[in-house]
Amino acid sequence: MSIVLGLDVGTSGTKAVAINASGRPVASALVEYPLLTPKPGWAEQPPAEWKRAALEALTMLAHSPNVDPAEVKGLGLTGQMHGSVFLDQDHRVLRNAILWCDQRTAKQCEYITEKVGARRLIEMVCNPALTGFTAPKILWLRDNEPDVYDRVRTVLLPKDYVRYELTGEFATDVADASGTLLFDVKNRGWHHGLMELLEIPAEFMPKAYEGPEVTGTLSKEAARVTGLPEGIPVVAGGGDQAAGGVGCGIVRTGVLSSTVGTSGVVFAFADQVSLDPEGRVHTFCHSVPGKWHMMGVVLSAGGSLRWYRDALCAEEKARAAETGRDPYDYITEAAATVPPGAEGLLFLPYLTGERTPHKDPYARGAFVGLSLRHGKPHLGRAVLEGVAYAMRDSLDIIRGMGVPVQQVRASGGGAKSAFWRQVQADVNGAPLATINVDEGPAYGAAILATVATGLYGSVEEACDAIIQVVDTCEPDAARTKQYDQWFAEYQNAYTALAPGFRRAADLLS
Ligand code: XUL
Repeated sequence: MSIVLGLDVGTSGTKAVAINASGRPVASALVEYPLLTPKPGWAEQPPAEWKRAALEALTMLAHSPNVDPAEVKGLGLTGQMHGSVFLDQDHRVLRNAILWCDQRTAKQCEYITEKVGARRLIEMVCNPALTGFTAPKILWLRDNEPDVYDRVRTVLLPKDYVRYELTGEFATDVADASGTLLFDVKNRGWHHGLMELLEIPAEFMPKAYEGPEVTGTLSKEAARVTGLPEGIPVVAGGGDQAAGGVGCGIVRTGVLSSTVGTSGVVFAFADQVSLDPEGRVHTFCHSVPGKWHMMGVVLSAGGSLRWYRDALCAEEKARAAETGRDPYDYITEAAATVPPGAEGLLFLPYLTGERTPHKDPYARGAFVGLSLRHGKPHLGRAVLEGVAYAMRDSLDIIRGMGVPVQQVRASGGGAKSAFWRQVQADVNGAPLATINVDEGPAYGAAILATVATGLYGSVEEACDAIIQVVDTCEPDAARTKQYDQWFAEYQNAYTALAPGFRRAADLLS
């Protein structure tokens, strides 16, 4: 039976998944690597690690008892977005890649916004200059490491570096390209006018393809190392959010996803380009040809809960090690003993700054409203609720853009806890659905490969055949009413604290 593969070059590791023609995952492999933070606010990775991890993960799939390599028909790629891989004229990597979660480019973002004009920039590329995006990273290199910049000939996104190593081709896809800030999202091609204005050579950027298009084939060398057949098509795929959207079946208006991984993303399908004039949510090309998507990004969603676990829950971790349970089970069970609103305790999850809605690299996390009454269960509940409020900020902006919200599908690690799903449904005042497979972006990339290899006629057809809702969590009207009030206080808390965050950043620097 035909098999297709998806490969996700993620931030904490590279995941590969093999699916059969009916979309059932038959094997998966994960190879992890560290995140380097050479300075506060910086985040880098050596592209060689991605190559090593990709080859290892693909090798594991090729040798899985459930995969006959001769039946593998194609490979779709996805990965962390926005990261910049700088290559010289001999296609050698010039320095570590600067990643999506790196915050060093505040000055370059200000420069771009001033040079182009805030409104005009959004008109040109549908998005504002944000520290995570690629264009400011290129300008940072020019400003800070001019000797390296002078040698740059090609700039690739993380998964596209792996594509180059697997196929020898320079290529990207329209969804990932949208996150560079150099892409004409409306017309689905590079924005040469903007690149000229910023004096970034157009030749730096690779050709951009639609998600299910073939960009090259697996090289002899990559085939030799992995055990996969030489010459299988390697498909454009998508940035991890667009591919993740496909993996959740977000291919029609009215169906949205809410993904809580390290970051949190509220993702909506769009038939036409639709913009938030303030640029608080991103408007990017979708991996469905000729379609778009909007998304709000919460930088520390699951990341906030992980921080809470690691910083304050040694006891829960020790108990989990003894019982074989997950420390998060103990955290959510304790949180469930506290009423909604955590008796007045709020948590702002801005541990690494925030994108939606604040576009504020200086924002920081906070517990607000602590009193003697509050104990550990309150802290845990406040963290779970704070992340849900942050996701609601995105959902409300998308709703405000006139997007109908008929169904929100939960995905990512945050979808595993029934309690947290209920908190999210109550905070949003909207049902939260669970789907039959939750394998993330790698799965979406594999679905794109099923289309490229002719197993399905379109991305929509593949998703309809493969993805089903299995459960729905309904909001409780009384709790939603309570949360509406605390949500307003959560929003007020950021407004009150923001100037202090900025001053604290100055003090720290
Ligand atoms: C999307 C974004 C993250 C990264 C890492 O805009 O920055 O989702 O792609 O996963």
